Amino acid sequence: MTRQKDFIDTTDFSKQELMDILHLGLKLKKCIKAGYYPPLLKNKTLGMIFQQSSTRTRVSFETAMEQLGGHAQYLAPGQIQLGGHETIEDTARVLSRLVDILMARVERHKSVVDLARFATIPVINGMSDYNHPTQEMGDAITMLEHLPQGKRLEDCKVVFVGDATQVCASLCFLCTKLGMRFVQYGPKGFQLKENHIAIAKANCEVSGGSFLITENKEEALKDADFVYTDVWYGLYEAELPKDERMRIFMPKYQVNSELMALANPNAKFMHCLPATRGEEVTDEVIDSASSIVFDEAENRLTAMRALLVYFLNPQPVNEYKANAAKQELETFLSDRIL
Ligand code: CP
Repeated sequence: MTRQKDFIDTTDFSKQELMDILHLGLKLKKCIKAGYYPPLLKNKTLGMIFQQSSTRTRVSFETAMEQLGGHAQYLAPGQIQLGGHETIEDTARVLSRLVDILMARVERHKSVVDLARFATIPVINGMSDYNHPTQEMGDAITMLEHLPQGKRLEDCKVVFVGDATQVCASLCFLCTKLGMRFVQYGPKGFQLKENHIAIAKANCEVSGGSFLITENKEEALKDADFVYTDVWYGLYEAELPKDERMRIFMPKYQVNSELMALANPNAKFMHCLPATRGEEVTDEVIDSASSIVFDEAENRLTAMRALLVYFLNPQPVNEYKANAAKQELETFLSDRIL
């Protein structure tokens, strides 16, 4: 099977391909924790396009490149011609000549899709208004590291509490692809849409996973191994003023100790961060022993290392060609320049 050039949506990948990337991440993490920094991305450059601010995504991509011998360029919000004076097509073509791989955090999903279509180098989606696949990959690595005793991923139930953000959609895509049980516990009007549901159902038919959307908290939380939430107000244009959204979500959809008590006794709490403490999650839960939110943040780096290595697919240097070019340069330097 031909490898995908880009990482835009986990839906484009098989379960095996995604598991390979997750395990590559774990192997690279083990190397680096042991003090070995494999120089797999030596001399490679990542261009990082951000149309919005970021802490975790930006820092983890840049750190991953540095640790593996490469370099990253931050292309700041508003300082690149993406979708402005210069077309996305031309931006993609130009950057394809200047760097080896691109990541983009965009306001509109179409922008990252178009960037990938016109770029001749790999493009990684660093979050759009539709999905957040690099977050999904870090989250799956975190779940692998925190599997309940005797369980595989396929045996686990993941409950997303609250608004159907792009993180919720992404989590749903990956959990159903990997054969897990996925539930969104959220109010009507803030639930996953038909297009998400179609993908989840198609995934479950192949993987044997399951998918449910419910407003019943006992049904949702029963037997949950991982309880996940995200902010309640839109990251893009808000559909409702904040106080109206609060009336819908608070207190029913807040992850607090009472809600966690409905899950398995050893259930873990997850959040993509940044969190709005006191709204979608209480301090008591996010700071509890069951919270693995900072492992998730660290595993953004684990996922980025794996994705960069997978998509850059480093090949051995052709020594014959490299030596010939070196000799030609040395002859020119000594004859004409030095
Ligand atoms: N979770 C996440 O994507 O964080 P940043 O917005 O800080 O990158």
